[in-house]
Amino acid sequence: MRAIDRQRLKSLMEREQQKFVAERPKSAALFERARKSLLGGVPMNWMAKWAGAFPPFVREARGSEFFDVDGHRYVDFCLGDTGAMTGHSPSATVSAVEQQARRGITLMLPSEDAIVVGEELQKRFGLPYWQFALTATDANRFSIRLARQITGRPKILVFNWCYHGTVDETFVTLKDGAEQARRGNIGPPVDPSVTTRVVEFNDPEALEAALAREDVACVLAEPAMTNVGIVLPEPGYHQALREVTRKHGTLLVIDETHTICAGAGGYTRAENLEPDFLVFGKPIGGGVPGAAYGFSEEVAQCIIAQQNLEDCDTGGIGGTLAGNALSLAAMRATLQKVLTKEAFDRMIPMAERWTEGVARAIAELELPWNVTRLGCRAEYLFASRTPKNGTEAHESMDFELERFMHLFAMNRGILLTPFHNMALMSPMTSKEDIDQHTKVFRDAAKELVA
Ligand SMILES: Cc1ncc(COP(=O)(O)O)c(C=O)c1O
Repeated sequence: MRAIDRQRLKSLMEREQQKFVAERPKSAALFERARKSLLGGVPMNWMAKWAGAFPPFVREARGSEFFDVDGHRYVDFCLGDTGAMTGHSPSATVSAVEQQARRGITLMLPSEDAIVVGEELQKRFGLPYWQFALTATDANRFSIRLARQITGRPKILVFNWCYHGTVDETFVTLKDGAEQARRGNIGPPVDPSVTTRVVEFNDPEALEAALAREDVACVLAEPAMTNVGIVLPEPGYHQALREVTRKHGTLLVIDETHTICAGAGGYTRAENLEPDFLVFGKPIGGGVPGAAYGFSEEVAQCIIAQQNLEDCDTGGIGGTLAGNALSLAAMRATLQKVLTKEAFDRMIPMAERWTEGVARAIAELELPWNVTRLGCRAEYLFASRTPKNGTEAHESMDFELERFMHLFAMNRGILLTPFHNMALMSPMTSKEDIDQHTKVFRDAAKELVA
């Protein structure tokens, strides 16, 4: 197994940065202009994280590709960090949105589309009742509030190095076995160790110990971790998770926002999970803001029994634009015509091809790296073994190396997410797209070990 020469990495990065800047004069000029009105030159702080000296400004995106203002074409494996997993601007969603935009965008009144979407979600995930939010973050926050209300318990539990959106309670990690605010946690409203217990994924004993005091309202879990690389559940883990949560009266919130990559009914349907709540956002409206959260029959009855009509608009759940007509029209079209079983039947083999290509290059170049796939999502990590939990995955992260791989790829027409080494397939992703990535990945890795 070969080690990476840091000096070489540094000089390769400088070379790639020069190439990136030299080939993108129009993006550079727009970035300079943006810095005069946008904080840090970007409309949202995460966009500062791209590996280039500035983000490429986008001219147009369609299907699995986009073009920047300098005319470069990119194969998009970031896909708006899953928001555009449907491919950019899928035609069924676009026509539904065009039509609905002319018929009313938001009314604070329901349209029939809401029922169709609720029925579709019932069929996919098996949970009987649904509500809508604008983001998966909000859907998670509302689920947590409801779980606290129903159980009368103060705490929640998450897995070490999870990510569930900007939910205050989840910015907490373990240090020497104790909860502490996650690095970079900006202005936490309360110390998250007060609100949250944290255990490692794939550790049923730690889970049992953390829930035994019976003060945890809910476990908020991705069924496979996807935000610290991919960490798959070990055989029997989900059964243990469900048994222990039931034993201690803790509700189970399954966040399928990313794990929808496992198939049309997410990991829940693929593995017959039985959550009390289920959250799904990001691509549900083909990129139009929207998210859904569903409940079991029992949870629904508890919510209804405690509902207070007079105060329901100021109880901390919902939002003015949540469940708006435009996002529901987008969700209806996306669920019925775009993110279908047939689409997954195309996307999953593409992710298999991507994973095989990366694995082949890793083996050929004897790199201490690994690659994991979940449905139509795949990711490589800088460790020789696949991780068992968030800590193992997090320890294999290497910010400098990651940025080099991303920048080298961007300079050759490939976009990965700016956060780790994730690639997602859309229904329009082609074999040629995958093979282009395999070549670029191998070329980058080869330069590192040359
Ligand atoms: C698993 C998971 N849940 C929820 C969210 C939050 O989504 P949003 O940022 O759209 O609110 C994310 C975002 O990355 C996520 O990965």
